[in-house]
Amino acid sequence: TEFITVSDLADLMGVKANEVITTCMNLGMMVSINQRLDASTIELVAEEFGYEVEFVDAEEAIEEIQLEEDDPEDLEPRAPIITVMGHVDHGKTSLLDYIRKSHVAEGEAGGITQHVGAYEVQTDDDRPITFLDTPGHEAFTAMRSRGAKATDIVILVVAADDAVMPQTIEAINHAKAGGVPIIVAINKMDKPGADPDKIKQQLAEYDVIVEEYGGTNQAAEVSAMTGDGIPELLDKVLIEAELMELKANPDRTADGVVLEARVDKGKGIVANILVQNGTLEVGDAFVAGPCFGRVRAMENEHGNRVESAGPSVPVQLTGFDDIPQAGDKLVVLEDEKKAKDIANQRQQIRREQELRKSKHLTLDDLSRRL
Ligand code: GTP
Ligand code: MG
Repeated sequence: TEFITVSDLADLMGVKANEVITTCMNLGMMVSINQRLDASTIELVAEEFGYEVEFVDAEEAIEEIQLEEDDPEDLEPRAPIITVMGHVDHGKTSLLDYIRKSHVAEGEAGGITQHVGAYEVQTDDDRPITFLDTPGHEAFTAMRSRGAKATDIVILVVAADDAVMPQTIEAINHAKAGGVPIIVAINKMDKPGADPDKIKQQLAEYDVIVEEYGGTNQAAEVSAMTGDGIPELLDKVLIEAELMELKANPDRTADGVVLEARVDKGKGIVANILVQNGTLEVGDAFVAGPCFGRVRAMENEHGNRVESAGPSVPVQLTGFDDIPQAGDKLVVLEDEKKAKDIANQRQQIRREQELRKSKHLTLDDLSRRL
C-alpha cells in the first residue's frame, strides 16, 4: 500500500519537496513530486528529518464474509424490526414497556437505558414485531448508530412537554444516514405543558415533516403513562412495515448482528443477537467480528431456552470464545475450524492496528506541530 505523496510528506514536515526528493535519492530512490510513497519509505525519509511516523488512519477494515444471495422463491415474510430512539428521558423505555405490558423501566439502573434491549411483541391480531430499545444518553452514540443500522423503521420519541433536543437530532441523522423511515411518537401528552404543534414545527426544521404539514412522516400523539394513542402508533408502524414487504429466508444458515455482549458470572460470555436472516440453531459454529464459537445455548427475552431462532428474532446466546462488540456481524459457518481461522485472521488485523497506535508520533501530530 502507498500513502501520501512526496509533496504531502514535505508539507507535513515543513520542508521543501526538493529536500524530500534529494533525501530519497540519497537513500537510493528516484521519486517525483507527485509520487505516492510506501510506508517504509515514508518512515525512512521522516527519520532523516528527525521524525518518527505512525499511520493512524491506515486502518484496515475487517472484511465481511460474502453471503450468498437468496433465491426469491425461498423468501418468507418476517417481523419488522423497529428501533425506538430519542433524547434521554423522553420515554422510549416507558413506551416499549407499555407496549409489552411489563415493567422494564422500573428495573433499570437509575431508570437510564444502558444497553440495547430487544423484544418480540405480538400485536392484537397476532402479528409479530421486534422492538429494539436504545439509550438516549449522549454517551451512547455508537449504540444508537448500530440500532439505526439493524432496523427497518425508527420510532422517534419526543416528549411533548420538552422539545427537539440534541439526541433527537442525532437520532434523525442516524435514521437518515441509514435510509430508514421515521415514525414520530410525540409522548407525554398527558402532561400539562404538552405542546405537540411546537414539536412538529421543530421537527420540520430537521426535515422530519409530518403528514398534516404536507410531509411524509407518520406521527402519533401518545402517552406511555396512560396508553393513549399507542394503538394508533402501532397501526401506523404496521402499515409502514407492510409496504416494505419485509422478507427473509428461514431455511439457510443464519447471520445476524450483536446487540450487546457482557460477561455473566454464571454463564460466562453472553451476547444478545438479532437474527437477520436464516435460522440460528444450537450447535452452529459462527464467527462474530474477531470472535468465534459454537452456539452452546440460546434463551429468548423471557429467559426460556430455545433450540432455534429465525429471522427478526432476538436471542441471548452463549458459546463465544471472547467478548464480541455491539455491532459485530455474526455469521454461521459450516465448521468451527473455519470460524476460528477467520476470527484469528481478524484478531491479527486488530493487533496490528493496536501496535501502530502505540508508536509515538503520528502524521496528525506532525501536522499539528507545524
Ligand atoms: P433513556 O433510556 O435514559 O434515554 O430514557 P427513556 O427515553 O427510555 O425514558 P423512560 O422511559 O425511562 O422515561 C423517563 C421518565 O419519563 C420516567 O420517569 C417515566 O415515568 C416518564 N414518562 C415516560 N413516558 C411518560 C408519559 O407518557 N407521561 C408521563 N407523565 N411521564 C412519562
Ligand atoms: Mg430507556
